[in-house]
Amino acid sequence: MESKKILVTGGAGYIGSHTVVQLHEAGYTPIILDDFSNSDRKVIQGIGRIIGTEVKWYECDCRDREYLEKIFILEKNIEGVIHFAASKAVGESVADPLKYYDNNLGSLITLMKVMDKSKVNKMVFSSSCTVYGQATNLPVTEESPILPAESPYGFTKQVSEEIIKDVAKSNPNFRAISLRYFNPVGAHPTSHIGELPNGVPSNLVPFITQTAAGIRDEVTVFGNDYSTPDGFCIRDYIHVVDLGNAHVKALEFLKKAKENYQVINCGTGKGNSVMEVIKAFEEVTNQQLKYRVGPRRPGDVEAIYADTSKANKLLQWETQLTLEQALEDAWDWQKKIS
Ligand code: NAD
Ligand code: WQD
Repeated sequence: MESKKILVTGGAGYIGSHTVVQLHEAGYTPIILDDFSNSDRKVIQGIGRIIGTEVKWYECDCRDREYLEKIFILEKNIEGVIHFAASKAVGESVADPLKYYDNNLGSLITLMKVMDKSKVNKMVFSSSCTVYGQATNLPVTEESPILPAESPYGFTKQVSEEIIKDVAKSNPNFRAISLRYFNPVGAHPTSHIGELPNGVPSNLVPFITQTAAGIRDEVTVFGNDYSTPDGFCIRDYIHVVDLGNAHVKALEFLKKAKENYQVINCGTGKGNSVMEVIKAFEEVTNQQLKYRVGPRRPGDVEAIYADTSKANKLLQWETQLTLEQALEDAWDWQKKIS
């Protein structure tokens, strides 16, 4: 009988926890592996409340080869791995590049060695639209050029994709997909899980919700002089529940995939400006947000959003939830945790 066990590294994190819920709902048995370096053990309980049963989990650093091997032996028939575990703060990666090369590349290589030894040959990897840098043609397709990385973090995603591609070339039984996420936002509609930023958030939506909750004084909008219709930066904000679902579809695809390796964009296909996000938040939550326009943030790309046709076609997946729903869910979650 086909095994439905999926090992989810980084499964206690923001995107991982939502994916674990979706996996369970699709009939899989997710097993979380996390070192809790950027997550809280309470997330496990939050997931349990949503799915009505306790999810199995291991506290393990992905670079710990010995323990990883034990887990693969203990669990016997793992069908595939979704690899979220990584450090993700762009600014920190500039200040401490070795932490990022060690954790993000070390985790991937150790995991892939153990998968190889254990003959587990399906993997979904968390990549990022950051690999495109400032794309000249929008929306970006998977064929858009990979530009020099803006940060060590971004470089780890580019190198990771290459590592997976090379392994896929070397092993005809191996099947992998790198999902290039655009900007994940929102929380689970039950408010049992959501984003738990460490310290002052650098991402827009948690900064907005913390400001509305009175934790921050005001949102600084980084620049209003971009060559976009309203002068503000444009991004493709995708509800984290939709993103979680893309992983389930990716696993389904891997079972029948003819080619060893694919990269696939995961976004809504629609760009929204920072001001549109702020206005949508105000509308959905019926309150005024304190914000002011400040200078541009170094390293920010002007505009990026996804061409989603490859995901639509290969994964039979498209987003279902709106930016407004994501902002409402993010706000409900913020109220719960503050
Ligand atoms: P997150 O920090 O919430 O989740 C990552 C999880 O991995 C955390 O629970 C952390 O404790 C764990 N972890 C880190 N290093 C580990 C290690 N060595 N061993 C075991 N566990 C480890 O981040 P997220 O937002 O859920 O992101 C998940 C993945 O998606 C990351 O690879 C990230 O780079 C990628 N990604 C995120 C975004 C985003 O905006 N959130 C966008 C594109 C790509
Ligand atoms: C979104 C927009 C800011 C905060 C980052 C990483 C990227 C990927 C996703 C992992 C931008 C503006 C933000 C604020 C603002 N992560 N902004 N005031 O920069 O698109 O992408 O997260 O792979 O690699 O770089 O996301 O949420 O930081 O910013 O005006 O206080 O909001 O300028 O236009 P970003 P973000």
